[in-house]
Amino acid sequence: MKIHVTLLCAGFILTAMGCAKDNSANDLNLQLLDALDAASGGKGSAYYILPASDRLEQIPQDPNNPLSTYKVKLGQLLYHETALGLAPMHAENMEAYSCASCHFAAAGFQAGRHQGISDGGVGFFNRTKNGDYTATEVDVQPIRTPSVLNTAYQQVMLWNGQFGAVGLNAGTQDSWTAGTPKETNNLGYEGLETQAIAGLNVHRMMIEKPFITTSSYGVLFDAAFPDVPVSERYTRQTAGLAIGAFERTVLANKAPFQDWLRGKYTAMTEEEKRGALLFFGKAECASCHNGPSLANMEFDAIGMEDLYLCPEPTFKSDENSVENKGRGGFTNNPADNYKFKVPQLYNLADSPFYGHGASFRSIRAVVEYLNAGVSENPAVPSSQLASGFKPLGLSSKEVSDITAFLEHALYDPDLMRYQPTFIVSGNCFPNNDPQSRADLGCD
Ligand code: HEC
Ligand code: HEC
Repeated sequence: MKIHVTLLCAGFILTAMGCAKDNSANDLNLQLLDALDAASGGKGSAYYILPASDRLEQIPQDPNNPLSTYKVKLGQLLYHETALGLAPMHAENMEAYSCASCHFAAAGFQAGRHQGISDGGVGFFNRTKNGDYTATEVDVQPIRTPSVLNTAYQQVMLWNGQFGAVGLNAGTQDSWTAGTPKETNNLGYEGLETQAIAGLNVHRMMIEKPFITTSSYGVLFDAAFPDVPVSERYTRQTAGLAIGAFERTVLANKAPFQDWLRGKYTAMTEEEKRGALLFFGKAECASCHNGPSLANMEFDAIGMEDLYLCPEPTFKSDENSVENKGRGGFTNNPADNYKFKVPQLYNLADSPFYGHGASFRSIRAVVEYLNAGVSENPAVPSSQLASGFKPLGLSSKEVSDITAFLEHALYDPDLMRYQPTFIVSGNCFPNNDPQSRADLGCD
């Protein structure tokens, strides 16, 4: 307690409102510092700070893909580059989509809809299926698109964690099925790198030599991968490594909670601070949502509904989608069934579709669901549900406090800084179909 008081008096609070011990605003800050200390197992509030995006040495990285400024720059451009969209189902969609079609900055690096559509989609705002595509031709997945934000703090990727050769996936080699994207794990990288290498293929993108080597991409690949032999330098694998490097720098480090953690105690409102106190204390959210990204790298069943049942039309998703089984669909271990990776919680407000099946439309609805603690998915046996998923007995005001913390304090207002101002091809991005070009003002 003593240290905390010194800290508060040395900082903003002293100049703003004096240093009275019984000041209630100060009390809330002190209580929250104590709660963070407890939730972090004694590491203290600094444990939750996300590093600046250019302090590469502070960002968690794959030892086989060390971060460099050139790699990050190359990855940022490739991630948004619609000219990689060279394998569409219909020629009219040539060079019309990118990774960012489904994970774009303005949507908090989510899709901005219940189901992301890449090849076979029309438009940036209110993106829909292109009428020339059949439901099976369109590039979608039978699960909601999670965010790329703060993924540096996750070793395995996807809701079922299938990508990544290390950490939680050690010992899952039997599931790295040859002939499927999962075999990419054999390259030995962490989840982000593995997903990006596999994802380029899955999402119909190609690294084509003449374009890459004759454009300024060639120079960037040379700067990013000087130690890779020229014959292997301009490939899907190096492109995936660069994209993974870029994604690691996409951090919500300007959110009010982050400012508060850095000592600006006016960055959060009283309501948000009360919400944070509940989140890290009485409501026990941090028993699963812990660490700098508020995701503890575990899998849990909390009974949320699957995508095929969401109110909007979906493609390629039904009650038999293996994705509905969560972690068990990857490991084939029934004990893992219906368990999904604990998601990060920043900038959720940018894309109002929550749960792996997009069954919630507001953050408050999710908090109310967790407070009630009753599964909405009859397919999930109660024996699978996490013990932490139980009625919480929070009052309506407490639910409001937690909602305010999630909606505003965990919201970085400037994610557009991660989007480049142009891409090397000069194409429109993140999409380049005629309707998207009109929506994005590219024509
Ligand atoms: C068609 C839309 C779409 C496109 C295009 C797309 N993604 Fe995704 N992405 C998804 C969906 C859906 C998931 C979740 C899939 C699952 O869990 O089974 C996902 C998952 C991810 C994840 C894992 C996040 C986490 O928390 O586990 C990362 C990282 C990612 N994508 C990066 C990329 C990159 C890089 C590209 C380009 C190579 C890309 N995505 C292209 C829809 C898309
Ligand atoms: C037992 C672990 C656990 C606890 C406790 C828990 N969560 Fe979660 N949370 C999860 C998992 C797992 C998911 C994803 C589940 C799914 O999609 O099926 C999730 C999803 C969410 C989402 C939706 C995020 C998104 O991108 O869809 C929010 C918001 C959320 N939790 C907030 C909270 C809050 C607030 C609390 C405390 C009241 C809390 N959680 C307690 C494990 C937990």
